[in-house]
Order: sequence, then C-alpha cells, then structure tokens
Amino acid sequence: MSATRRILVTGALPYANNSLHIGHMVEYVQTDVWVRFQRMRGHECYFACASDAHGTPTMLRAEEENTTPEALLDRVYADHRRDFDRYQISVDNYITTHSEENKELTALLYTRLVDAGVITRRSIKQAFDETRNMFLPDRYVRGTCPKCSTPDQYGDSCEHCGATYSPLELKDATSTVSGTKPSVRESEHIFLQLGKFENELRSWVAERMEPGIVKKLDEWFSAGLQDWDISRDAPYFGFEIPGEQGKYFYVWFDALIGYMSSFLNFCRRTGTSFESFWGRDSTAEVYHFIGKDIVYFHALYWPAMLSGSGHRLPTGVFAHGFLTVDGQKMSKRRGTFILASKFAEHVDPDYLRYYFASKLGPAPEDIDLSLTDFVAKVNSDLVGKFVNIASRCAGFLHRLNAARLADEIPETELLQRFASAGQDIAAHYEGREYARAVREIMSLADLANQYIDDHKPWVKAKDPNNHGEVIGVCTTGINLFRILCVYLKPLIPSLTQRAEAFLNAGELVWSDADTPLLGTRINKFEALLKRIELKQVEAITTTREEQTMPEINTTDDDFIDIQQFAKLDLRIARVVHADYIEGADKLLKLQLSLGEEERTVFSGIRSAYKPDQLIGRHVVLLANLKPRKMRFGISQGMVLAASGNDDGIFLLDADDGVQAGMKVS
Ligand code: 2FM
Ligand code: ZN
Repeated sequence: MSATRRILVTGALPYANNSLHIGHMVEYVQTDVWVRFQRMRGHECYFACASDAHGTPTMLRAEEENTTPEALLDRVYADHRRDFDRYQISVDNYITTHSEENKELTALLYTRLVDAGVITRRSIKQAFDETRNMFLPDRYVRGTCPKCSTPDQYGDSCEHCGATYSPLELKDATSTVSGTKPSVRESEHIFLQLGKFENELRSWVAERMEPGIVKKLDEWFSAGLQDWDISRDAPYFGFEIPGEQGKYFYVWFDALIGYMSSFLNFCRRTGTSFESFWGRDSTAEVYHFIGKDIVYFHALYWPAMLSGSGHRLPTGVFAHGFLTVDGQKMSKRRGTFILASKFAEHVDPDYLRYYFASKLGPAPEDIDLSLTDFVAKVNSDLVGKFVNIASRCAGFLHRLNAARLADEIPETELLQRFASAGQDIAAHYEGREYARAVREIMSLADLANQYIDDHKPWVKAKDPNNHGEVIGVCTTGINLFRILCVYLKPLIPSLTQRAEAFLNAGELVWSDADTPLLGTRINKFEALLKRIELKQVEAITTTREEQTMPEINTTDDDFIDIQQFAKLDLRIARVVHADYIEGADKLLKLQLSLGEEERTVFSGIRSAYKPDQLIGRHVVLLANLKPRKMRFGISQGMVLAASGNDDGIFLLDADDGVQAGMKVS
C-alpha cells in the first residue's frame, strides 16, 4: 500500500432553505464511500461540509414563516445534520456558512483579491421591486420570453426556446415576490475579474478535471471568461462586504469559502494544521465532490479565488449526474419526490447507499432509482448472496465447535483469490468506479455460495465423522464473508458494523482481507438484515402527508410556490343578479358584489343552476383573472365551482357569516 496520504474531501454544501431529498444523497453517499474507503486504507482523510446559509431564498423563506433567517437556519441545520447521521455520512465537521470562521475567511480572501488587483466595480441595471424595496434576483422575475413570446418564463432563460436574457428584457415582467411590475434601478456592483486567471485556469483544468468535463470547460473558455458579480445590495441575508455600506457578498462567493471554513473550524477544534492543507505549498490532497450543474463555480470561480488569494488549488473536482426515480425527474405530483428523511423512515438507508453505489461511475451521468429494481437488487445481493454466506455457516460452528473458528483453513486457494481481488476492488473505489466494485464483490459472493453448495455442510454435519470437515468448510465460509465485509464496508456501514459485532474481531480495515480469522469465537448470528418488501417502498411514494420542509423556488413545474399562490386574488362575492344569455346555452350572466365594487362575470353553470336560485348566494371569485372579452360583454373574473365527472357542476359554498369582499386564502 502507498504511503499515508493526507486528504481533505468535501461534498457540495446543501442550501439551508430546503430539506435534503434522495437526489442530494447520491452525492453524499458517493463522497462518503470514497472517504470511508480512504480511511480504511489507513490514510488521513477528513470530510468537511456545511449548510449553505445565505441568499435571497433563505431571507424570503424566513419572512414567509415569520421568523428570522438565523432561526430558520438553526432548524434546517439540525434537519440536515440528522439526515447526514441517518445515512451514515461520516463528516468530520458540519457547520453552516453563517459562521465566524466563514465570515473571517470570506473577508480574508476578498481583501487578498482586492490587493491582488483582480476586483473591479461598475454600475449595473437590475429589476427592483418597489413594494418590497429590494433588487430582484433573476429567478424572482417572471414574464414573457422576449424571443419566442412564451408567457411565464424565468428572468434568466426561457424553458421553451432556451434563450437566455436579462430579466429587464422580459415582456410583462412581474416580481414573484410581490406580484407587482418591477422597476429598473442602477447600483454599483463588485466583480471578480475571472479573465485575469485564464492561463492558470486552462492548465489547471487540463491537468485536474475529468475528461468528460474538460470539453464543456473548453466551450466556456472559448466563449470568454466574464467578470463575476460577487456583491448584492441590501436587503440580503449574508456577510456585509468590508468597507462597503449595504453591500453583501453574493451567496456563492462565501459558499465556496465554506469548504475551507468548515475545515478551519475542525482544525481549531482538533489542533489539525489548516495551513498544511490550504497553504500555497500544501502537499495534501483536496477533492470536491459536486453535481454536474455547478461545475462552473468549482472549476473556474473557485480556483481563481484560491489562486488570487494565495492558496493552493484543488487536487480534483468530481462531478456526478442527477437522480431520476423510475425514469422520471423527481416530481411531487407523481409521488416520486422523496425526502431523504422520509425514505429512511421506511427503508434502511444502507440499502439505498448500496443501490446508488451499484449504479455510480466516475462520469457525470444521471442514475435512475427504479423502485422495483431497487427491491430486487438489494434482496438478491445483500440478503440472498452476502448475508446468506454467514447465515449458512454460523450455526454449524456454534453447534459443533462452541462458536469457535477452526485453527486453520483446509484449502486456502479460494481465500487467496478473495484476498487478491482486493487490489482491483481498491482501484475501482479509488477511481469512483463503484458500480464495477459492486459487480466484482458480488461475483466473489457467488463463488462463496458456490463453495458452500459444493461442500454441503448441512449434509455432512449429520455424520459425526465429518464434523472436522464441516468446521473447516464453515470457517472458510465465515472468512470469505469477512473479506466481503471488508470490501463492502465503505458502502454499507451499518450493516458491516453488525457484521463486525458478529465476527467479534474488532473494526475491519482494508488489510484485514489478507489475514484470515482463525481460532477465535464468533457471536451468535442474528439476522443482519431483512428483505425489503415492495410495500415498504410503495409506502414512501404513495403517502402524501405534509413534507416537513417543502421546497421553495423549486424547478418542478408541477407545482406553484406560495408566492405564485399569493398572486391569486380569491374573494367572496354575493350574487346580486343572475340572467340567462340569449344565444349562450352554457353560460349565465352574473352580477356580483364584492362589497365595495360590482363585477360582471359570465359563468358556465347554466346546466346546473337557474338564475333565481343564485340570487343572494355567496360564491368564490377569482378576482384578478385578466378580464376576458366575450361575445356578450367583458367577463371580470371567474366563479369557482367543482366538477370533473358527469355528476354536474357545484358552486363552492361558504360557511354562515361570510361577507362579500372577504379574501379567500
Ligand atoms: O447548488 C447548491 O446546492 C449549492 N448550495 C452548492 C454550494 S457548494 C459550495 F460552493 F458551497
Ligand atoms: Zn422563448
């Protein structure tokens, strides 16, 4: 084995305005497997992470919940930590980016970048929400695409034609925060001059990034490196920029520094040397595991920030793909949006760790969680193959040899074959070829089961003359199982911990695969894990109870968020008049009172109501629907009614006491 390496590993910092879903877990599992593997090999390997605290979404969400960003952060931080624990993500340090260390390092890096002459400033025009008195990030402006005229597009790009633009170019722009039309205001922003790092970035990328990613980076280099806007105006939840009034660091600037800050927090707690990992001349290794959507930040901005501030550059940045569930993007409506906590309530997270690993390779390709395949695979591999080996051997050793393993192995060939496979398997882990590692380990498990089948201890044990042989076969079987435990340990830590307790010989490290366990006593074999039932998995996707931390700012177009909902002006209206309309066999003309004002609405309820049944009745009106010009006049809103099958149309009723004009929410 190579000399001890000193390694720092990070996983992308999850945003503090949302709970973790199983898509997040692909990354944390991928990272954790690698970290656990390095530690098992005897390397000094640290894993630092944090919740990504700052930015407009956290600020708005806190407002929405009538709390402070700090209080929201405390809650989400605890929620993230709990999920990390549940999935056995073995972080050495987990903080938030709203920490003293991050404030200190963000100021330090910024000041050094200013001193290095790579920071500039200029005025820019931005959408401004006059009612909320805030500049609007692109994603908080929606309107009609200036290129193809598709309505209701985000402020930065059109989902229909793919055009990218500034929110100021949108037709009919609306602030999603208040529903009002934004104005345009100018303010001075601070920029990192990325272009000044081009040569250094080009050579770092060529040397350090995976080939699959380099092509994309080449496109970005060819398009030209633009200055990066690293400031935001108040109100903003973040760190104020030293020497500025009302200007804050953009969340991404301090989030990237969060990697260092979490590690600094760890170093201060434990007396580990920070400088030896982050100093310009560091010989330690630093790796960032990220999703493929944030390569730009990690392969361009981050190394530029590090270089410009006198730090070392990362040794590698590893990007993975996204997760689909049953071939679909996760969707709440289809029941395929799965919170990590929810999954863990129904199914042991080790199973998911194993399944993800069985699909993961080093390329940033998407992976699919097929729920039926998931059940079949973990039952077949972990229960049917792996655990089965121990369960077939343990009982005989207990019965025939007082739970002791034999002092020697009758034939060592198979054991040697298992031990020597460790080299390839280690190379697969090192190269993040987990799917290959899993395949190789499972083919060894097949060999172990075949060995037991061939020697039939359950037949031989019937004859006392064969007991010595049975003990030898079962000692071999348990040792094969133990080697598989070593190889599987980075993937399924809880299960292997139970297996270690059964083997009764301490914590397994990688080199244990080379030396058999002989002459010691094993513990009673308790079922190490249970088969999963399909219904457990179905329970995850079919229950629809309230998610604890529903996402805001989601890209899942099956949902509207609370701000979009707030745009609906739903009112109680009293029917003052109702009339048939000549020439319209579906519509009634309703004159509605909203208290202060009256509206005329044409409503398609003629088949269900006679006009005089309606007079005096309270209905629910969508009052801010764009007025519609119809053949008979202008309809000023829409009356809500239930329908959907052939049973008819039913106006929504309100309890006694409602009054015209009341808001419905
Ligand atoms: O994309 C995200 O979820 C970001 N919160 C990741 C930040 S990674 C690093 F920069 F902190
Ligand atoms: Zn468009």
